[in-house]
Amino acid sequence: MFHVCYVQNMSIYYTQKYSFEYPFVEDDGTPMIMCTISVPDLMGIFCRRIGRYPRSFFDCGAATGVMVAMAQGYGMHARGIDVRRYTAHQPTAKFTEHLFANGHIKIESILDTAPIDADLAYCNGTLTYMNEMTLPLALSKFKNVGMLIAIHNTTEDIVAAERIGDPIVHSEPRLIRSNQWWLDVFRKNGFRAEFNAQYKCFCVRPLHTKLQANRLQRFNKCAGIQLAYAGRISVR
Ligand SMILES: C[S@@+](CC[C@H](N)C(=O)[O-])C[C@H]1O[C@@H](n2cnc3c(N)ncnc32)[C@H](O)[C@@H]1O
Repeated sequence: MFHVCYVQNMSIYYTQKYSFEYPFVEDDGTPMIMCTISVPDLMGIFCRRIGRYPRSFFDCGAATGVMVAMAQGYGMHARGIDVRRYTAHQPTAKFTEHLFANGHIKIESILDTAPIDADLAYCNGTLTYMNEMTLPLALSKFKNVGMLIAIHNTTEDIVAAERIGDPIVHSEPRLIRSNQWWLDVFRKNGFRAEFNAQYKCFCVRPLHTKLQANRLQRFNKCAGIQLAYAGRISVR
């Protein structure tokens, strides 16, 4: 059940959708709250699917760097990029400034970055900054990750937020589509994808690379021959 309430630019819709929040300030000094999924929850989602905890983390759209700092705190090799640098006067600066200084977070667009090499990649809203032309290029950067977890507004969120009088307003055009549209787009671009209803996130994993697919085909062919052979020499 959603209730309408505003605290320091805080949308109650987001706080109820995503359980982890931290403060940041916009370039004009406006205090804001970032809503996201916590790093331990992301690790848990990965672990339940893949069977082990992620060893590396990549925050695509790292903003002030809080998620990268936390992921490092949980022992992961963590990196990130963001297309823009947030003002230096962040409340979290003392925990994150070094990440920008030592290059663990780079100011770079997903569209220009090298393919991402990490167990777990995370996109909080970042994919909605794309358009239908640039999205396939952005998705191609995740072909080598173990799992991409993506959270962002969908048509369903816009309707649900409006229903509780907490409309979602974007300052610039964003790629807002239905949950099903996103699932189809991930699949069309070579991923298997599912929507995790508990955490309200897309869990996206690359399909086999071409090399793996060829190996699998050879293995199946070989197994088929062996089965046929075993059938022929079966003891009567
Ligand atoms: C909602 S913030 C995510 C913050 C952080 N990842 C978290 O979950 O707490 C989304 C970020 O995506 C960044 N972004 C937008 N377009 C991008 C692009 N083309 N490449 C990289 N980052 C981008 C924005 O600048 C913004 O900081």
